[in-house]
Amino acid sequence: MITPEQFRFFAELVKTASGIALAPGKEYLLESRLNELARILGLKDLNELYSKAKTGMTSSLKERIIDAMTTNETYFFRDQHPFDTLKKEILPEAIKRNGNSVRIWSAACSTGQEPYSMAMLLCESFPALSRGAADILATDISRDAVEKGKAGRFTQVEVNRGLPITLLIKYFKQNGAFWHANDNLRRMINFQIFNLLSPFNFGTFDVIFCRYVLIYFEQQTKQQILEKLAKSLNPGGCLILGATETPIGLPAYMERVVSGKTTYWKKNA
Ligand SMILES: C[S@@+](CC[C@H](N)C(=O)[O-])C[C@H]1O[C@@H](n2cnc3c(N)ncnc32)[C@H](O)[C@@H]1O
Repeated sequence: MITPEQFRFFAELVKTASGIALAPGKEYLLESRLNELARILGLKDLNELYSKAKTGMTSSLKERIIDAMTTNETYFFRDQHPFDTLKKEILPEAIKRNGNSVRIWSAACSTGQEPYSMAMLLCESFPALSRGAADILATDISRDAVEKGKAGRFTQVEVNRGLPITLLIKYFKQNGAFWHANDNLRRMINFQIFNLLSPFNFGTFDVIFCRYVLIYFEQQTKQQILEKLAKSLNPGGCLILGATETPIGLPAYMERVVSGKTTYWKKNA
């Protein structure tokens, strides 16, 4: 059993480093994830991990702890309708403004299903953009997730979640138990490890997807990230959040747009 002192120590560490807030009641989550990490690191259990973290914390151990506490749930074309809105409304408007170029950011991309879905959408519906005029940045705090995304290698179970068979056959090659994204798709996406708590230094974007990550943060952290996301948009650029996420703290110049099932925020500045 995790002790209250251990819970406080790890919860504080995770919150300070990643923003992920582990409220009392999440002891089971910390305990199961960190026992698993202890096993992977060749330690006896969470107690030994705690002693190691208390007495000799290194940046790599800290990273492993944070990584273990991230929830990387994702799938291809998650919720579908934001991708429909991207195709029918957001990208055509961005192209009109920019003249055939577009910058997209999948912030908190997990293992890459979101940016690969964007890349396939560009290839299918905006072929001119897919040949070098589109820049997809995909970032996440989790090293394991980003490396998996970069490798573009997915299991059968993963491709069965949301990826139409026609796109699977067209853009992926099967090799043993895995499906590999083709080189063209992989070239379209720039994967990087990035913590949303850090200052943003990627320039500005036409579209930002920041979905199903703000739910893990406290209001003040959410607000700071929303302000930085809004600043990172070009005029007319759009921010898409997860379906259940409310952008309290988004600057007033971000206009709420409802398009079919999708609600998104457009920069009016
Ligand atoms: C549930 S996944 C969402 C993935 C994808 N956006 C989707 O909607 O399918 C949440 C992701 O947020 C990442 N994350 C958590 N805290 C983060 C932070 N401070 N900076 C960047 N990414 C973070 C996690 O590593 C995880 O991969």
